[in-house]
Amino acid sequence: MTQSAHDRAAQLRSELNYHIYRYNVLNDPIITDAEYDKLYHDLVKIEAEYPDLCTPDSPTQRVGSDLETDFAKVAHPAPILSLSNAFDGDELQKWEERNRKLLPDNIDLDYVLEPKLDGLSIVMTYENGVLTTAATRGNGEVGDDVTANIRTISNIPLRIPANPKSDLPSPAKLVVRGEVLFLKADFAKLNTEQEAKGLPKYINARNTASGSLKQKDSRITAERNLKAYIYSIVDSDGVNVQTESDVLAYLQAMGFDSIPDAQYYPSLDAIIADLSAWEARRDSLPFEIDGLVIKINSLPIQRELGISGKDPRGAIAYKFPAEEGTTKLLDITDNIGRTGKLTPTAQLEPIFLGGVTVSNASLHNYDMIRDLDIRKGDSVIIKRSGDVIPYVIGPVIGARDGSETEIQAPDVCPFSGDKLIRPDGAVDLFCPNPKCPERVFRSLEFFVSRGAMDIDGMGPQTIKVLIDEGLIQDEADIFYLKADDIIGLEGFAEKKVQNLLESVEAAKQRPLAQVLASLGMEGVGTTVSNLLVDSFQSLDNLLDLSHKVKAAESDFLALVEPFNATQHMLEGQNSDVKKARERLQYPLLDIAPRYVDSDNLETKLSRLLKPIFELAPSDAPDAAQIADALQILIDTARPLLNIEGLGPILVRNIVDAFADEHYQALLVKMQNAGVTMQAVEKEQAGIALDGLKFVLTGTMSVARDEIKTMIEAHGGKVSGSVSKKTDYVVVGDNAGSKADKAASLGVTILSEADLRNMIGE
Ligand code: IVH
Repeated sequence: MTQSAHDRAAQLRSELNYHIYRYNVLNDPIITDAEYDKLYHDLVKIEAEYPDLCTPDSPTQRVGSDLETDFAKVAHPAPILSLSNAFDGDELQKWEERNRKLLPDNIDLDYVLEPKLDGLSIVMTYENGVLTTAATRGNGEVGDDVTANIRTISNIPLRIPANPKSDLPSPAKLVVRGEVLFLKADFAKLNTEQEAKGLPKYINARNTASGSLKQKDSRITAERNLKAYIYSIVDSDGVNVQTESDVLAYLQAMGFDSIPDAQYYPSLDAIIADLSAWEARRDSLPFEIDGLVIKINSLPIQRELGISGKDPRGAIAYKFPAEEGTTKLLDITDNIGRTGKLTPTAQLEPIFLGGVTVSNASLHNYDMIRDLDIRKGDSVIIKRSGDVIPYVIGPVIGARDGSETEIQAPDVCPFSGDKLIRPDGAVDLFCPNPKCPERVFRSLEFFVSRGAMDIDGMGPQTIKVLIDEGLIQDEADIFYLKADDIIGLEGFAEKKVQNLLESVEAAKQRPLAQVLASLGMEGVGTTVSNLLVDSFQSLDNLLDLSHKVKAAESDFLALVEPFNATQHMLEGQNSDVKKARERLQYPLLDIAPRYVDSDNLETKLSRLLKPIFELAPSDAPDAAQIADALQILIDTARPLLNIEGLGPILVRNIVDAFADEHYQALLVKMQNAGVTMQAVEKEQAGIALDGLKFVLTGTMSVARDEIKTMIEAHGGKVSGSVSKKTDYVVVGDNAGSKADKAASLGVTILSEADLRNMIGE
């Protein structure tokens, strides 16, 4: 044994144990999963060569654990194993060679390949067809009981077979294993909602999924739209399967969403030949994967091969080349987006990650730079995943040599020189000037882009030239461009100009919802724009309502103005007083949505605002006056407040955006240029629900949005709150107060199945 192997093993043990401590105890890893895997792999290799070096404190001797103290524990019926890793085709080949040595000569080996989902493992037990427990992997022997939370995940059957009309018997016992995760689109949607609420975005989908599953209040889990995909049977009674292919077919027959994109391969060579094709597919899959799992198809052969340590020999994980890596942070530049949001961006020593060279990455915001103590000159961990802009996970503090310098947030916008602002409760800094040249450029760049107005031939370069030539200053100017203005500009030949103007002409016919979403107004993306157009049908209706709401809000604020005089008295006051005052300042956010369908506002307001009434100056209005003003505000804003899918923050953003002079002027200017802005008629599937008003509550078998679309396609309307005008409340699992309210108002309650019956499904 060489001295260096001994030292290297000791060093790897100590490093790995430190990283395990950072990950599990401090919850603050400083290296990437891929880097951890690499170190671990190195240690496994040394220990395999020199078994004497495998000490009891070696991390290879321990099973990772995600156990937490707050949950009841569930003992797994069989160890929940993990997989050894291979990083290239050679390592896969060696794996097969090792296996062949343990098996009869010339045995045929075929395989099933599955995506390696980047979520968290769950183990679910069904007894006589009923889901009885669900647990995390924990330490492999015992897991945390997360049954209540798992029940909220809509694609997990609570009973199997999930299809009541299935002829298959329920197995006496079935314990399955799968992965819980966010689909990329659902994670993006969650972040859009966070942004609309002014809350920080979630960065990592897997950690967020894990956090969502480990909620003590399962209603929070229910809101998250997690999905579960099932890939193996851990234990069973009354099930006869002989191959991995059988397992997947059986799971599907029972009604599970089995792991998508699983594929049968007759040989390992065929898999190796396909590895790069799988890598290329990675970004286009709807979920995050960090590799592939390759399983010998025959279960008897898998059993014969047995287990090595905690890894079954019959399956292996092929890990994709790292999409995370470490490099040097050279400098920071500040980017300003179309909303004015400042994003500090890391300039990096170029690093090759997941097939591309990355030389800059997002640092999210200055709070994060401070909290993570990121310094200029640091070694930083970068993650790149899919189409998302690469971002900095954090610094490698152990790699510092003292030359690193702290990073300060700027005071002014680097493009316009305006003082940066930080709205209440926000983590980001903003340039407040809508005419900031960088904001204007970014808005225009977004407006013409594929996901927005989709004006072919008008890329960022063209926009730059047109701005520099003084031909466009805002989005509407695009629709006033004339051939004579452009021909002759550098790079604008006649043919190009003709094509460009044709694209502009075509863009004038974009539907209203698309135009609205293209303007990039705070909170008004594609989903919200569609909701608005569905409800209001025309731009004029929407502008008109926004004005009226704004006016009612101003009246309300003017009425309660005398309470502002109490501000100095509030310093050091208890939080109830502060809260009451905030409520008065932002009536659309908190008070109006709370009382949309209430009577007797005066009594309710007296109670809600009691702390501040006790301090009221003599000229302050009383509860009755405030109630009157509030009633007007509620009645005016009701068409918005009642839209299912719009929360109070979005309602306020919408009113602010559409009552904003800048956007109004822009919209009118576009109309005058011939942009038609028509609402598009939705395709009707039927009229069974014509004119009926529905409210949805609780978890349904599919996303609530889907149920909403279905109701609307049959002529019904869906709103967010129950009132006397509601015809039906459709109640799913874990329904909340809306169901109680329906009962108290005598509104008919339907199950999802009742609803489906009504439309003849
Ligand atoms: S099979 C003994 N299949 O990858 C069989 N695992 O260590 C073990 N994973 O944390 C698992 N996708 O949660 C299997 N299609 C898949 C998987 C998968 C993701 C996770 C699993 C575990 C890790 C393997």
